[in-house]
Amino acid sequence: MSKTWSDRFDEGLNPFIEGFNASIGFDFFLLEKDLDASVAHAKMLARTGVITFEEAKQLENALEQIRRESLEGTFKPSLSDEDIHFAIENRLINLIGSLGKKLHTGRSRNDQVATDIRLWLREKIDQIDKELEAFQIALLNHAKDNIFTIIPGYTHLQRAQPLSLAHHLIAYIEMAQRDRDRLQEVRLRVNICPLGSAALAGTPVPIDRKYTADLLGFDSFHLNSLDAVSDRDFAIEFTSTSSIIMMHLSRLSEEIILWCSQEFSFVNLTDRCATGSSIMPQKKNPDVPELIRGKAGRVFGHLQGLLTMMKGLPLAYNKDFQEDKESLVDTVQTVTACLKAITILLEEGLNFCSERLSETVASDFSNATDVADYLVSKGIPFREAYQIVGRVVKLCLSQKTLLKDVSLEQWQEINSVFDEEIFKILKSENVVAARRSEGGTAFERVREQLNYWIDRFSSSKK
Ligand code: ARG
Repeated sequence: MSKTWSDRFDEGLNPFIEGFNASIGFDFFLLEKDLDASVAHAKMLARTGVITFEEAKQLENALEQIRRESLEGTFKPSLSDEDIHFAIENRLINLIGSLGKKLHTGRSRNDQVATDIRLWLREKIDQIDKELEAFQIALLNHAKDNIFTIIPGYTHLQRAQPLSLAHHLIAYIEMAQRDRDRLQEVRLRVNICPLGSAALAGTPVPIDRKYTADLLGFDSFHLNSLDAVSDRDFAIEFTSTSSIIMMHLSRLSEEIILWCSQEFSFVNLTDRCATGSSIMPQKKNPDVPELIRGKAGRVFGHLQGLLTMMKGLPLAYNKDFQEDKESLVDTVQTVTACLKAITILLEEGLNFCSERLSETVASDFSNATDVADYLVSKGIPFREAYQIVGRVVKLCLSQKTLLKDVSLEQWQEINSVFDEEIFKILKSENVVAARRSEGGTAFERVREQLNYWIDRFSSSKK
């Protein structure tokens, strides 16, 4: 038989509705934080004289016992507990009787759940930040080894200009840094305490909101009780930031998938991070980056889900909010797992094929801009130079040759300003080295970028 909700009700819930209403099946993850917040609330009630210090101590001891029971696996809430907040309160009353019934003075599950989620998410943000840093360091280690490895640079996935491989990898370090910066901003808005807002309007019970906020390590508390209990912006912001992280990981994954295809062959996957086919014995599949690319979709979905869940809600609490939990938990789990997986893939799953990379770059027209730049240095206007080189490329294509195969006589026939120097200009190392503008791919510029990140990471360790 399901329980009657309170003395106001005559009948118990329909059993299906009881299950439908409950969140205990997916809010157990809030247990630790609910206990922390309850301990702080009890201490505060003693401080303001609502309960005695002795009572607060007894409440705290009983809450700590529930924590132990949960660690030992003996705390097993049932469906009739409805959610983790009731489950803990029921167990508390079970343990210490009527004193347990005093804990809910001056609070509501509405401010309680909002407080718990914020405490939980704050911790998860700090963990994800560490994962992002490990990912950046794994990229940096490859970058250190590959300043002089040349890789084709693409626009429109067409060969454009050659790059230092380190330059390419550092672009992802930059992206991850913006992700970390965004997370820190979200953390500022997560770290505000709603506790004490009660159901929606505050409470006549004398409470000290600053005290509980301080005990729980919050930077401040909400100034408007209605906003405090009905705000899930922080959850949306977190999911949005996570979506951007996943989009970045998915882009890198897509590159790795292309790079280890036979067509590119820029990268070999090691056995530690590649999988085989159940039928085609020759295959080595990039399941890890494919999964990361695929999992981006579910995180984007959670962002849409939360936005849609919120858009029609009048103030203040609505049961719809209960739907925030699975989205948040899955977002945290997915982002964390994908960051760990891509870091392992970088650390032990990839070998860049540097010879193949340099052969590739040497066999294309990605040095064509440099011929135009060379003509510009001889006083020919860029647009004219661009047309001249375009004609040479067309000629080479029809003869199946490359720019380096054009003889000095042929160059001079095209324009008398050409001299021997053109052959140096055409070499891919020189094409890379020439791009000395700040932020460019020239080896010395890449070295500067690398040093910037090395310094940054060594000072973050201090
Ligand atoms: N399980 C609920 C949730 O996750 C807790 C808050 C319930 N509040 C209420 N007024 N029914 O949102």
